[in-house]
Amino acid sequence: MERQKIAAGNWKMNGSGADLVEVESLAGSHAAPGCKVVICPPATLLSRMAERVSGAEISLGGQDCHSAAKGAHTGDIAAGMLRDAGATHVILGHSERRTDHVETNETVRAKTEAALSEALTPIICIGETLEQREAGETLALMSEQLTGSVPAGADGAQIVIAYEPVWAIGTGKVATVEQIAEVHDHIRAHLTQRLGASADMTPILYGGSVKPGNAAEIFATSNVDGALVGGASLTASDFGAIVDALSAVGER
Ligand code: PGA
Repeated sequence: MERQKIAAGNWKMNGSGADLVEVESLAGSHAAPGCKVVICPPATLLSRMAERVSGAEISLGGQDCHSAAKGAHTGDIAAGMLRDAGATHVILGHSERRTDHVETNETVRAKTEAALSEALTPIICIGETLEQREAGETLALMSEQLTGSVPAGADGAQIVIAYEPVWAIGTGKVATVEQIAEVHDHIRAHLTQRLGASADMTPILYGGSVKPGNAAEIFATSNVDGALVGGASLTASDFGAIVDALSAVGER
């Protein structure tokens, strides 16, 4: 079996009903042979988006979930609720969640277990700050984040890892292909050591200022199986071009 290629869009806290046309337009204009397209809108749009893309080859995801299945957690959303609203994926441990909501690796692991128990595919985010990179800590930190965030005994085919250097998110600064290859190769080796042969099936996405103009080069990089895209996922034209670049790699 081939490892899945994934173009995932993270709308973050953006978008209202009027923006659903972007997904309709994407569904109508960009077939994505050989790759999975996932849009993660704010939770308020999930079920409406699910109605608009029904029948299209677009999957939907949440941007976070709680580790509990239900209960007294005002403002939170359980993995099962995301599934009920039409999601098949969920982003976990995004650096904005780690910063804004003080999420630790342990929190992310508990959420990952909750997602897996609802048959949602977790997209687990890891990444270093500029200070950590400059201090030479990147690879050790990636190991630490993976060890803490990925449940022991996970099936590599059921999880997705997104490497997102914090300094590249929303800044227009992209990691070089050498930097990306080094970290992605390290992630694959770490997962293989921990999860065994199934790690070969884990898609590893790059995230951080991916745009139509740099996507092809990033997708040609060692152990890059797709992208987690923020800003450029908000319009069908930009995200569609990124999806096309990923499909082109699949066809080679
Ligand atoms: P960006 O965001 O593409 O806007 O840099 C990426 C992300 O945070 O997932």
